[in-house]
Amino acid sequence: MSDWHPIAVPDDLSDPGTCGVSLALPERTVDIILLRTSGSLLAYLNRCPHTGVNLEWQPNRFLDLTGHYLQCATHGALFRLKDGVCVRGPCVGQHLSSVPLRIESGKWWVQI
Ligand code: FES
Repeated sequence: MSDWHPIAVPDDLSDPGTCGVSLALPERTVDIILLRTSGSLLAYLNRCPHTGVNLEWQPNRFLDLTGHYLQCATHGALFRLKDGVCVRGPCVGQHLSSVPLRIESGKWWVQI
């Protein structure tokens, strides 16, 4: 069963831009990618479908050099921003797991 949890979204998150969030739950920690693109905020689990590792190059750095894809630092897989589908690399056709987001009372919430 999943619940909604508040998260902090940096005010200065650029478009496109990313940041990583670690959500501490009672039984586990969930790593999330927050992505701003084309005026929208999206969230994915920070877990590459190839091996399950986190994607970032450095803290909060998930975009490739073009800014058009999320890129896994381990083997270079490229994921479309809008849906997280892998379009190049060892996990083509697989996708990042989308995390539901909503805004309520001026705060962002994720469903995990
Ligand atoms: S672990 Fe991400 S592409 Fe291999």
